[in-house]
This record gives sequence, C-alpha cells and structure tokens, in this order.
Amino acid sequence: MSGSLRAGSSNHNILKHIGSLLPSDVNYHIYDALSSIPPFDPGLDNDTPPEPVITLRNAITAADAIIICTPEYAFGVPGQLKNALDWLVSSSTLVDKPVVLITASLGGENAHASLQLILGALSANITDTLLINFIRSKINADGNVTDEDVKTGLKQVAINLKRTYNT
Ligand SMILES: Cc1cc2nc3c(=O)[nH]c(=O)nc-3n(C[C@H](O)[C@H](O)[C@H](O)COP(=O)(O)O)c2cc1C
Repeated sequence: MSGSLRAGSSNHNILKHIGSLLPSDVNYHIYDALSSIPPFDPGLDNDTPPEPVITLRNAITAADAIIICTPEYAFGVPGQLKNALDWLVSSSTLVDKPVVLITASLGGENAHASLQLILGALSANITDTLLINFIRSKINADGNVTDEDVKTGLKQVAINLKRTYNT
C-alpha cells in the first residue's frame, strides 16, 4: 500500500521495485484504491461498512504480509493513509499481521515514527522498517531506483519479507 496518491509517485515505484525482487511464486499485489476509502466515521463502522473498506480489510486479511510505503506530509502521516488505518482499528484487521514499513520522503522521520506508533496501536507485527530520505534524487524520471544504498535496502526488505512468510 502506497501512502501517496500521486501519479508517478516515488513510493509507488518503490513498491514496484520490491515486486521485481520477489520470487515469481509470490502473489504480490499493489493496492491502488486508497483514494476510494471514505472519511472515517465511527457511526458507519458497523457490520456493513462502506464497500471500499470491506475490500481493503479482505485484501489485508488474505495477505501473508503487507508493505506500507509512504511519504511524509507536513511532518506527519498522509491523511488518506491515516484515514484508511483508522478504518482498520475496530475490525482488528492488522492484529499480528506482518507489516513492513517504508517511509520514502524528503526527510520522513516524523511520519516514520508516527506510523510505528499507529501500527503499534493496531497491534500489527512490524517486521521491518526502512527510512529513505531525499527520495526524489534516488529515483529517475522513468521511476527506476538509481541509488545503490536504496537498492541494497530494498533487496534486504525483499529477503526479510520472504523469510517472514516462509515461517
Ligand atoms: C503537501 C506536501 C507536504 C510535504 N511535507 C513534507 C514533510 O513534512 N516532510 C517530508 O519529508 N517531505 C514532505 N513533502 C515532500 C514529499 O516527501 C515528496 O513530495 C515525496 O516525493 C512524496 O512522495 P511521492 O513521490 O511518493 O508522491 C511534502 C510534499 C507535499 C506535496
């Protein structure tokens, strides 16, 4: 799941890059419906929540592990990502779910720390974290990762991920 809705997003491209590193027998899916999640309303968080929320919850439940890859906006977590996570509280969808957290941003330290708190509140099992700063200078115009340290970091994420869902 990318926390950026931007066309050509660096975070989306990082997720694509990770997908290219995983073995072909891994069913890897980039969730791209974040913009369809309605504003969180506790009054609607009942047995029949909005359809996009059901779809998101089902996708996460079916996954062995998930990757959240996000920028930071205004020293915080992008609103639409936080909104989606709020919909996952009551359903316990993320409880014990292996989650890799990647923050790829200009700086990103605040969102990275904040998301670890949020995922902790959701009782997710954070298996790996990676903070990539100055992201725009580490991806070229075609969306390919060009920075060797980032490539190494993402390769390690893929290795750790495979280890997680193999256990
Ligand atoms: C409204 C807005 C606020 C931003 N605020 C921050 C910030 O507080 N910290 C930061 O590291 N980057 C900030 N950025 C820069 C983003 O990190 C950068 O645009 C990044 O490439 C966005 O990720 P994307 O390429 O996946 O869309 C901000 C960008 C926007 C559009």
